[in-house]
Amino acid sequence: MAEAPQKLRGSHAPQDPRDFPDGFLWGAATAAYQIEGSPLADGAGESTWHRFAHTPGRTANGETGDLACDHYRRAPEDVGLMARLGLGAYRFSIAWGRVLPEGRGAINAAGLGFYDRLVDLLLSRGITPLVTLYHWDLPAALDDRGGWCNPDIAHWFAEYATVMFRALGDRVPMWVTLNEPWVVTDAGYLCGVHAPGHRSVHEAPRAAHHLLRAHAEAVRAFRAGGHPGQIGLVVNLEPKDPASDDPADIEATARSDAYMNRQYLDPVFHGVTPPELPDMFGGAWPVFPDRELEEIRERVDFLGVNYYTRGVMRHDETNPPVRASHVPQVQALRTETGWEVHPESLLRVLRWVRERYGPVPIYVTENGAAFRDPPSVIDGRVDDPLRVDYFRTHLRAVRQARREGIDLRGYFAWSLLDNYEWAAGYAMRFGLVHVDYATQARTPKSSAYAYRVIRETGGAALDLPLGELLRAAEELRARD
Ligand code: FCB
Repeated sequence: MAEAPQKLRGSHAPQDPRDFPDGFLWGAATAAYQIEGSPLADGAGESTWHRFAHTPGRTANGETGDLACDHYRRAPEDVGLMARLGLGAYRFSIAWGRVLPEGRGAINAAGLGFYDRLVDLLLSRGITPLVTLYHWDLPAALDDRGGWCNPDIAHWFAEYATVMFRALGDRVPMWVTLNEPWVVTDAGYLCGVHAPGHRSVHEAPRAAHHLLRAHAEAVRAFRAGGHPGQIGLVVNLEPKDPASDDPADIEATARSDAYMNRQYLDPVFHGVTPPELPDMFGGAWPVFPDRELEEIRERVDFLGVNYYTRGVMRHDETNPPVRASHVPQVQALRTETGWEVHPESLLRVLRWVRERYGPVPIYVTENGAAFRDPPSVIDGRVDDPLRVDYFRTHLRAVRQARREGIDLRGYFAWSLLDNYEWAAGYAMRFGLVHVDYATQARTPKSSAYAYRVIRETGGAALDLPLGELLRAAEELRARD
């Protein structure tokens, strides 16, 4: 792809030396089950997501990740696409069951080989790989033994992580243990809308605890192995605001914040459990040895923050254990997933992390939006101005955070490709690149070009009015 017009690059040098410096990671993110397809190929073991998606009634239209973006067979082409888009970094996840079909024990060389080649391909194009070890596709064999509710899983996960560190640790500079443990427990064990589809107020806090133990044990294994890179955790954070000044709404907001935001970070950074949680869960709250909480408090090299929206909360007795529910912001712009577009809250959440947890290096490891794109590619174009505006406004928040001295070192757009949005299936399109699922043709959208213009102007193009940014993106596309 052509570079941003010289005119734009020259006239928009970064205005502030703290804006995006060399070395700032500019990337895009994906996850294995959402893009790879071929879930059982070459000896891979079945995952909980494969099982869940194949259970009637679990996903929109019964859609599965069987084909997805066919990335398992098209990885070289997709890495070529990333290079063409000028991406500097790529965050992807490993399907645990491709490497260890039973979750532990024998290594499947073919599955490992796929990721080994992917890393080499990325490096050969100058793209920094950031590897997530767990993005929700647990080997089904481990689920049969209790999954995240079995205390032994901390050890199983560390064993798997060690296999990956040994195989790729010489080339992968950045590792993430878990993606969004809150979603794993809330959607998977409490609400039953993600794999493994349980609805249990008893299981959810146990799964949360063992996820964090697994994370910490993998971090220790990484350090013990003396690998050169860095390791961290990715959480999804959502500032919570009360729907009114009614004390009941204010308390409901605090509970939601404890449940979603602090449940995972307070133990990791401070070795404590937010006080609201035992109250909320009552008799279902498990008591774990203090030693385990101490073990969870293991230094991370960085924190990955996934940000999509904020939550406006009201007290709601019918929604245990949090007893709060979201109030849809009817006057706000919302994405296809119903999430309010609220870029200020990205800045708020980054400030909050610094204030509450100290000066840990931060990466925005996911940020993006599903909008209803034009139904087909016309003349090679997919115009997605709402998504361009989403990235433009959220990247302004990122830039502002840097100007405030927050140690923010990179940004990953979600997602590189339109993909399988879990239980919502294929209707939700988050990609910078449009995927025609019938032909698997990839077409970069306006947002892919606008993202490049923003990067190549050192962020200066963030100050352009939307119309001008769209024009610059279109100029880039036309020359591509
Ligand atoms: C995040 C997930 C990611 C994707 C986006 C839209 O919670 O990590 O896989 O589904 O939401």
